[in-house]
Amino acid sequence: MKTFLAAAAALFMASSAFAAPASLTVHADRPGPTINKYVYGQFSEMLGTGIYGGIYVGEKSPIPNTRGFRNDVIAALKELKVPLVRWPGGCYADEYHWRDGIGPKDKRVTRLNTNWGGVEDPNTFGTHEFFDFAELIGADAYINANMGTGTAAEAAQWLEYMTGNQDTTLVKERKANGRDKPFKVAIYALGNETWGCGGNMRAEYYADQYNQWATFMKTAQQPGPIMLASGDRSGDWTDFTKVLMDNRRAPMDGISLHYYTVLGDKWEIKDNATGFNEEGWARVLANTLKMDGYIKTHDDMMSAAEKKSDRPTKKVGLYIDEWGTWFKPAPGSNPGFLQQQNTIRDAVVAAANLNIFHKYADRVQMTSIAQTVNVLQAMILTDGAKMVLTPTYHVFHMYKPFQDATSLPIDLKTGNYTFGGITMPQVSASAAKTKSGAIVVGLANLDPHNAAVVSATLAGVKAGKVKGEILTGATMDAHNTFDKPDTVHPVAFNGAKLANGKLSLSLPPKSVVVLTLQ
Ligand code: AHR
Repeated sequence: MKTFLAAAAALFMASSAFAAPASLTVHADRPGPTINKYVYGQFSEMLGTGIYGGIYVGEKSPIPNTRGFRNDVIAALKELKVPLVRWPGGCYADEYHWRDGIGPKDKRVTRLNTNWGGVEDPNTFGTHEFFDFAELIGADAYINANMGTGTAAEAAQWLEYMTGNQDTTLVKERKANGRDKPFKVAIYALGNETWGCGGNMRAEYYADQYNQWATFMKTAQQPGPIMLASGDRSGDWTDFTKVLMDNRRAPMDGISLHYYTVLGDKWEIKDNATGFNEEGWARVLANTLKMDGYIKTHDDMMSAAEKKSDRPTKKVGLYIDEWGTWFKPAPGSNPGFLQQQNTIRDAVVAAANLNIFHKYADRVQMTSIAQTVNVLQAMILTDGAKMVLTPTYHVFHMYKPFQDATSLPIDLKTGNYTFGGITMPQVSASAAKTKSGAIVVGLANLDPHNAAVVSATLAGVKAGKVKGEILTGATMDAHNTFDKPDTVHPVAFNGAKLANGKLSLSLPPKSVVVLTLQ
């Protein structure tokens, strides 16, 4: 008994007594910019089973569907309040010809996704189906036009087909294909990863191409779509942002940035999605936190360019339209389909990134996590008729109140989580004020072993009650499967206490917590 008590005491000392308490001040007295709801966007590429099988199964499928869209997936995404979906790629966007996907389905041509797994695209999910899907889940549409193998005329005609309202041949064709009123295009992007799969261009060449193309993207839609240029791969590449900012002549409302979280220093070095060790946990989280510095670098560069050209600041947004974890493919899957499991590590990655995006709400106007269903850091996994919600889905669900809320500055002093030579802040946080006046605080504990005691002050607001939700797992790779779909799911969090205007709580190891204060 004595030995047991000594061991328990030693464990307690190791796990909590030495963990430095974190102090958090939420400045409700200094409201910041609005967190654009598009920060919670999703990316759905025609890749692997991301669309076919995952979202769209066709009207004749035995899987319950509405006009071919899986009822289970549609309901789950509607519940998530997805504000925006990006389609058709990704690399596939630069091989996609919109005419292949309109008109009678039995006449549509089959193409290949040559970048990802050589999967066949029967084009039964085309423009009309994409908008039908977006409307079913209540999302706005982000269309990525083909600059790699397309022409400016093709992109301009697609825009007219979608948004035109006069009596042109293209509008008549849209009507004949079943859509009377124009579709609304929220974002129109010209090219994707133009430094790589989108054409291996130099920044200067792409900037010229962008200006030329954007000049001709005319539309009856008012206001017109946000016009988006394809930007850098990650913060350590900065030439596209710089060159685009310095050479913009045609409308350019935003520049994209892609950053995937992998295991190593190079994109090629990937971890297993499950069954990883603590080094994998620590490396992945340390890498994901680099998003903060990358955004800052680009934001600073954009501000400098705006200042130099005497243009208003923060007018061009940073659109992080691909982000998330990229692990080794699920055993037995087609490697090109980019299928991976999703664990509590992915959940902590998601929360940490959302907290970073909130911090830069004045510049980051949109993000879309890669990808919605069955691809990379997905919200949902499917297998035939089966569907499971991932830990990442639950984080997006918990963070819903942040959409269109006012970002609040925070001061956070936290101890570190260290493994081997890898060190990072133990706690990640962000706060906002919702339209109904509630204060929401999102927190993540990046330490897989130690709880984090947090003492918070709310400046400029008196809260009378607090409620919360928590997501955590028994192991670092806790995840949901088709057989055990609820291993990782949010539960009520009653561990936060309000006393004398102070909030105190203890965040369990490897957890995500969202608090609502009123
Ligand atoms: O999201 C998967 C791929 O990653 C996209 O097709 C491409 O844009 C990026 O390299």
